[in-house]
Amino acid sequence: MDLDKVINKRKQVTKYSSKKPKIEKIVEIIQSANKAFTHGNLHIIKYLIVENPELIAKIAEACQQEFIKKVPYVVVLCSDPKQIDKIFDVRAKKYIKHHVGAAAENFLLKTYDLGLSGNWIGAFSDVTLRNVLEIPEDVEIEMLITVGDGLKTSKKSKIPSLTTRLFFDTYWNSFHKGIKKVRLEDM
Ligand SMILES: Cc1cc2nc3c(=O)[nH]c(=O)nc-3n(C[C@H](O)[C@H](O)[C@H](O)COP(=O)(O)O)c2cc1C
Repeated sequence: MDLDKVINKRKQVTKYSSKKPKIEKIVEIIQSANKAFTHGNLHIIKYLIVENPELIAKIAEACQQEFIKKVPYVVVLCSDPKQIDKIFDVRAKKYIKHHVGAAAENFLLKTYDLGLSGNWIGAFSDVTLRNVLEIPEDVEIEMLITVGDGLKTSKKSKIPSLTTRLFFDTYWNSFHKGIKKVRLEDM
């Protein structure tokens, strides 16, 4: 699919059909996530695919998000920062956030490119998830992503205009002679 189409199609989806995508598709999506920018080419994300319905029900409880009970797959993105803490010291925490965000965006764009849908899950109880999924104490649970065959949604998020958030050369300078204000409001 054309990149712009995928970006515009990508919307948070919380309703999925009972048709379960093949596991190969989920692995293909993770391969795309794994190609995201990473600090010093250090790959510290571990991906845990959960498809057992009993575990998924427990994940839904850990997230307090009912819709998760009906998703065919939840992928948990964990970071194992042991290597990078030593190399990057105080910047390590920031770099992990950058890398996880980049991997998650690749993940979700690939999901939509394959005709599937997903949702980003950032709200969860770390303690409960750790217990349910047997995640070791020294591994950080970064986020979860739901994946499935999304049911059609008319959801449209109102995206605030860039006019008050796009600056040129110096912070607060919203003027650029090459760009008309009217065009910015459409962006
Ligand atoms: C850091 C982060 C955490 C999020 N956590 C959740 C979540 O726990 N549950 C959920 O349904 N959506 C979650 N989302 C998705 C947002 O709610 C969604 O992207 C936003 O409402 C805009 O809608 P759109 O993605 O359809 O444009 C999260 C998104 C981000 C970036």
